[in-house]
Amino acid sequence: MTASSPNTPVVGLEDIAFATGANRIDLAELAGRFGVDPAKYYVGLGQSEMSVLAADEDIVTMAAAAAAPIIERHGTERLRTVLFATESGIDQSKAAGVYVHRLLGLPQAVRVVELKQACYSATAALQFAAALVARTPGEQVLVIASDVARYELHSNAEPTQGAGAVAMLVAADPSLIELEAPTGVYTKDVMDFWRPNHSATAIVDGKLSISAYQDAIEGAWEDFRSRGGAAFDEVDHFCYHQPFTKMAIKAHRHLAKVVGSELTQAELDAQIEPTTGYNRRIGNSYTASVYLALLALLDSDLDLTGERIGFLSYGSGAVAEVFSGIVRSGYRSALRSEDNRAQLDARTAIDDARYLQLLGDAAAADVHDVVHPQQTSAPFRFAGVAADQRQYEPTTA
Ligand code: HMG
Repeated sequence: MTASSPNTPVVGLEDIAFATGANRIDLAELAGRFGVDPAKYYVGLGQSEMSVLAADEDIVTMAAAAAAPIIERHGTERLRTVLFATESGIDQSKAAGVYVHRLLGLPQAVRVVELKQACYSATAALQFAAALVARTPGEQVLVIASDVARYELHSNAEPTQGAGAVAMLVAADPSLIELEAPTGVYTKDVMDFWRPNHSATAIVDGKLSISAYQDAIEGAWEDFRSRGGAAFDEVDHFCYHQPFTKMAIKAHRHLAKVVGSELTQAELDAQIEPTTGYNRRIGNSYTASVYLALLALLDSDLDLTGERIGFLSYGSGAVAEVFSGIVRSGYRSALRSEDNRAQLDARTAIDDARYLQLLGDAAAADVHDVVHPQQTSAPFRFAGVAADQRQYEPTTA
């Protein structure tokens, strides 16, 4: 199956890789402190663990770690653009991607910019990247989504934290996914979730955010269909933004009802289940989350060759976009499935006391001068701040 006319180049995902924090906490640890049944998180939210950063990790170190294997495999000869999507920015002016540019030794003849709109911005970056490559098919664009999800401690949003980065190389004649042209978009000013400049944690109206998410996906889906997008029953798998994996199931059931699907609830849930494995163990990675859903699906045992994947991206505030892609034949040879699973297993399990200590240290760390001793074994680390300048370096063995 191909989605492009003979005159337009086939554009899509050439490569995809992820990185997350050094630590993980089982949500049973939080359930103990909150005095609730762990099933509330395991079943009610569909989450088992969340990633927790070491003191010398942040969005830059995760982003560089996610992108490094892609650069190693493809080189930089065709790379002209780096789009860094995040809502946990580390500077009000300088793009986090510029630090990544240095850490990865990218050429100077590359543009780097940062994009923000809650959990949605990586999808905007992907669409912008596809347009750049369609204009100049010899060029490649590196899209990086990297976020740390933080809410107020002891709030009911706390179990939906997490951290992760996904890097994607967008190219012509791609090895993994061919992006189809129709997209559906939606914007509405909603105060469901935001983070004022004075706050390190997001402010959220949890219940409103769930209905705002569903309304936005419904609106973007309607626009997608009106622009020639595939019908619900022509989509084999659905990758939703997953602040917690149960949200994807809720949204999918909602969309199925809106379109009048006759699939049973079990059949609908089965369309989502293979996309949830990584997010269930990482937690909310904000703008990376929908692409972690894709990675989990690609790494699953299913043979996806020629299948259509629907992408349903939501960012609070609120913007949504629906688009689709076709899995290319031979895609498996471009995956790193074993490494991906190993990366999740390699995280250090921490208890609630250590987790609270790490979050406390992170809150205190935003100062003019600080030195972070080495904790992480990731390839790059955040060594501290000297005279207001963030210090990043390769990690020594
Ligand atoms: P809560 O009030 O603690 O939880 O907060 P609850 O009481 O609603 O329970 C959650 C679920 O667990 C419910 O299931 C319960 O029934 C179930 P539901 O009825 O909804 O299907 N439950 C149990 N299940 C099994 N065994 C048990 C048990 N007890 C209860 N024993 C909430 C939940 C999600 C609101 C909160 O964690 C929160 O505010 N999180 C942050 C906001 C969020 O993630 N919103 C999602 C949509 S917005 C979005 O995705 C954008 C975002 O990523 C930001 C961005 O765009 O940048 C957040």
